[in-house]
Amino acid sequence: MAHVYIEDIGQHEGEEVTIKGWLHNRRSSGKIHFLILRDGTGFIQGVMSKADVGDDLFKAADHLSQETSVIVTGTARADKRAPSGYEIDVKTLEVVGESHDYPITPKEHGVDYLLDRRHLWIRSERQQAILRVRHEIINAVRDFFNARGFILADTPIFTPAACEGTTTLFPAQYFEEQTAYLTQSGQLYNEANAMALGKVYCFGPTFRAEKSKTRRHLTEFWMVEPEMAYADLNDVMDLAEDLVVSVVARVLEKRRRELTVLERDIAKLESVQKPFPRISYDEAVKTLQARGLPIEWGGDFGGPDETMLSEQYDRPVMVHRYPAAVKAFYMKPDPDRSDVALGVDVLAPEGYGEIIGGGERLADLALLLERIKAHKLPQEAFEWYLDLRRYGTVPHGGFGMGIERVVSWICKLDHLREAIPYPRMLYRLYP
Ligand code: 4AD
Ligand code: MG
Repeated sequence: MAHVYIEDIGQHEGEEVTIKGWLHNRRSSGKIHFLILRDGTGFIQGVMSKADVGDDLFKAADHLSQETSVIVTGTARADKRAPSGYEIDVKTLEVVGESHDYPITPKEHGVDYLLDRRHLWIRSERQQAILRVRHEIINAVRDFFNARGFILADTPIFTPAACEGTTTLFPAQYFEEQTAYLTQSGQLYNEANAMALGKVYCFGPTFRAEKSKTRRHLTEFWMVEPEMAYADLNDVMDLAEDLVVSVVARVLEKRRRELTVLERDIAKLESVQKPFPRISYDEAVKTLQARGLPIEWGGDFGGPDETMLSEQYDRPVMVHRYPAAVKAFYMKPDPDRSDVALGVDVLAPEGYGEIIGGGERLADLALLLERIKAHKLPQEAFEWYLDLRRYGTVPHGGFGMGIERVVSWICKLDHLREAIPYPRMLYRLYP
């Protein structure tokens, strides 16, 4: 009998098929068992009637418990009422592995209880849907850059110095002598790669020792970072806009079923079209002040500020030219106004806040040296980076997009912890 995945069942209507999976749920009515089966690709109802399978198997199936692994054969039948459009008339059922007292039942559990059992929680329909959307987003990102001629050049995870401020570094003992830090961003190496290859991206895990317990912060998260030689702030904003539009369109095209499981409002995603509004930090501060938020010019935006700003628009908004003082050492000051930097943040709609941060880099050697000193960074560790300004410096720029932030927004999650298979946070290192 052909082993068929549930997602492909439509190609086997009327045929006898074998499903290899797990029992998700079960209910019985006298002479019929309704078995909800799952195999990772989908869910389907198996209908087992006493008349078809005989007394013994029917009785055995009466005791099957949640998450028992089973191999089922039966005939695939179209059924308009079924969520997948099909059902299986069960002929045989074989138990592969038993499952007693499965800890996650259809009743409500607290989030800490579920996070402690994350390795099992991911079997639920909702968590599977999120992880499938995540997969699609990641593929869409890779396809986007590959189609545009960006070269994937990976950057190291063990690094000798900070990229995004020294307060969120994770140290690691590097043999006897040295301390390494887990990378906060591949950007600095990306800049070197861009000088070699023109247009590049890196895509990997990044680490920040975030002591804050917010719904937008993980200590380990995935970031995709493009970098382009001969690019200015506008080029960076154009690229960010195209990327976000392309990723959302791809999820809408390929992951409708998952978005339905998540009860996502599709219309909200469909309005993510070009052009995104582009506003300066100055304008953003005025908007926030007019709405009564206690922000002063010069401060970085907090979660509530970002939420308020993004709620003004039906699509992502790009905020550019932040005060140089609150931004990283590598940002290029605006030549017309040195108190602001040529950086941009992309804020997602519906209150999701920053999904992308980036901008044009400081390409001038003398200015960069000043900034490294002002930020009290160890110059020795940045000598290689300074070489990029010594040997054929060019205007360049790029950005980083946090994958979990995008997953969280597209799936409309309450918290980033559901956007990654195994979240790492201040108080969470298990499982
Ligand atoms: O704005 P950030 O800190 O920018 C950089 O790291 C730049 N070096 C990137 C670059 O220009 N190549 O981080 C970029 C993005 C944020 O917009 C956010 O989406 C995500 O990374 N991010 C986090 N996601 C989850 N948890 C955290 N603690 C995050 N910190 C940043
Ligand atoms: Mg940022």
